[in-house]
Amino acid sequence: MVFPEYRPRRLRKNEVFRSMIRETVITPANLVYPLFVMPGKNKREEVSSMPGVFRLSVDQLGKEAKECMELGVNNVILFGLPESKDAVGSGAHAKNGIVQRAIKELKNKAPEMVVTTDVCLCEYTDHGHCGILMNKDVDNDATLEVLAQTALSHAQAGADMVAPSDMMDGRVAEIRGILDENNYQNIPIMSYAVKYCSAFYGPFRDAADSAPSFGDRRSYQMDPANTREAMREATLDVDEGADILMVKPAVAYLDIISRLRDEFDLPIAAYHVSGEYAMIKAAAANGWIDEERVMAETLLSIRRAGADIILTYFAKDMARYLRK
Ligand code: PBG
Repeated sequence: MVFPEYRPRRLRKNEVFRSMIRETVITPANLVYPLFVMPGKNKREEVSSMPGVFRLSVDQLGKEAKECMELGVNNVILFGLPESKDAVGSGAHAKNGIVQRAIKELKNKAPEMVVTTDVCLCEYTDHGHCGILMNKDVDNDATLEVLAQTALSHAQAGADMVAPSDMMDGRVAEIRGILDENNYQNIPIMSYAVKYCSAFYGPFRDAADSAPSFGDRRSYQMDPANTREAMREATLDVDEGADILMVKPAVAYLDIISRLRDEFDLPIAAYHVSGEYAMIKAAAANGWIDEERVMAETLLSIRRAGADIILTYFAKDMARYLRK
């Protein structure tokens, strides 16, 4: 017998062998594309810190949705830039608010598109925090009612799923309750269950104009140092009725995705966030890395860690890459 007996290279010989034994794959069905919706008509504004990502006015959404669907990306998540902001984030649950109009437009122009909404107040408050303030901090219980109203208004406008990202305690139960009372018991909740207080959200806050005007989000988003706390957060959301658990950001938290995958049997989502996208774009623009290959390898790592669903600004690019 020739040493070594077992030779892994035998199965790496050519692409047919390699693809036969490939353990992890990504399909466009796993991807969710985030959309930023802004007031006005005929608007398509590129976000400077996120090349290739645009803020779109409502009239542009039909075209955008069709482009996604042609690529096999049938899931979008909506973020809104309202006309005006106030202390209590009224725009988040306005009947004719920006996201509510966007949902109706999408359901009208691309009825097959599955529309998820981000449920949070930071884009709608003039102070940029994710809830109602009391003594310069976010008041948990006062915020729950507004979040619930926001989720309900999204369901009433036709949303297929709601995704609370505010990190208030008890919000999943509150939202489940109001949806059920109003006969939306079939609308799932994708909870941003494990959301860290992360510097990787920087470019998003440019895109959504949602940076806090004072302080930071450390009193409600999680400390990046904590793993056991992530398990407690996820357990609470499961008990409160979440249908999908999300980890955010993704790449710096692959260990957390993997732990959740092992310990919970709900579908797991991971948000490859704005800063993670921007870093790849910037390095590629400098010619330092191969953008497509780094994108594909990065998204694959998130799947390999255990995420079923990936929210990513690369969704369309990845779907195009998978076609090649
Ligand atoms: C709203 C929200 C944020 C993101 C998703 N939902 C920003 C934040 O928490 O500050 C970040 C997404 C990204 O960075 O791509 N609370």
